[in-house]
Amino acid sequence: MAAGSLQGKVAIVTGGASGIGRATAGRFVDAGASVVIADLDGEAAEAAAAELGEQAVALRVDVTDAAANAAAVERAESAFGRLDVLSCNAGITGYPVPALDADPDEFSTIFDVNVKGVWLGVRAAVPAMRRTGGGAITVTGSVMGERTRPGFGAYASSKAAANHLARTLALELAPDIRVNCLAPVATDTPMLPRFLGTDDPEAARERFIGSIPLARLAEAGDVADAAVFLASDAASFLTGVVLPVDGGRSI
Ligand SMILES: NC(=O)c1ccc[n+]([C@@H]2O[C@H](COP(=O)([O-])OP(=O)(O)OC[C@H]3O[C@@H](n4cnc5c(N)ncnc54)[C@H](O)[C@@H]3O)[C@@H](O)[C@H]2O)c1
Repeated sequence: MAAGSLQGKVAIVTGGASGIGRATAGRFVDAGASVVIADLDGEAAEAAAAELGEQAVALRVDVTDAAANAAAVERAESAFGRLDVLSCNAGITGYPVPALDADPDEFSTIFDVNVKGVWLGVRAAVPAMRRTGGGAITVTGSVMGERTRPGFGAYASSKAAANHLARTLALELAPDIRVNCLAPVATDTPMLPRFLGTDDPEAARERFIGSIPLARLAEAGDVADAAVFLASDAASFLTGVVLPVDGGRSI
């Protein structure tokens, strides 16, 4: 069943070349949207856009760069004439490390991408959304933003900040722009090995699955379906929601 219609809408998906973002871009196109795939990996973004056809274009964007976020909005308007939806999905993490041993530069970079990157993306998008009468923003947070784990001091606290930034923006941008947050559990994407760590990843994977009532990891498509719903008019009375996509992990 379709998660909601995005017919005629124009979206930017950051981190859209891989994993959850790639699945989101695909589901957005399936739901009728046109999409700018904005990713640090320009070649992968081009390849993803080519796979999706004429409803998708690509742009190399570093979400930590204000000018690059502005360029993504310009690309949406020049290619498709408007901007309705922003998926702030680009994110990074390191391998697990005790918080006191974390590398200061890596700590800063994680916050730059996962938190400041969301703020810069939203800041660039809002004037364009208001030119069309409003819009919908989804932020890819994490269940780790609500419940932390050892080894993820920088990542978990950055996702707590992302989840809370989404709530703050929901208050500030209402009533014409909705802002919601997706909080996925471990999801089978190229990022997953970092969450499993290097010390017996297979055992870590089984332990993870054992902690999830629905007895599997998330697929990128699970998160993408929730993103379509939150971006669509089917969610027109939802804002400031942090929606776990976690098979019941956070019950
Ligand atoms: N995979 C998981 O288990 C999981 C769980 C919860 C939340 N998340 C979150 O979901 C989002 C997507 O993760 P994923 O699992 O699909 O990871 P991924 O590594 O498959 O994809 C991330 C994409 O973001 C891009 N990116 C990285 N830094 C960027 C930057 N500065 N500017 C623009 N693009 C950049 C990468 O090039 C890549 O294409 C992230 O925010 C991540 O934190 C992932």
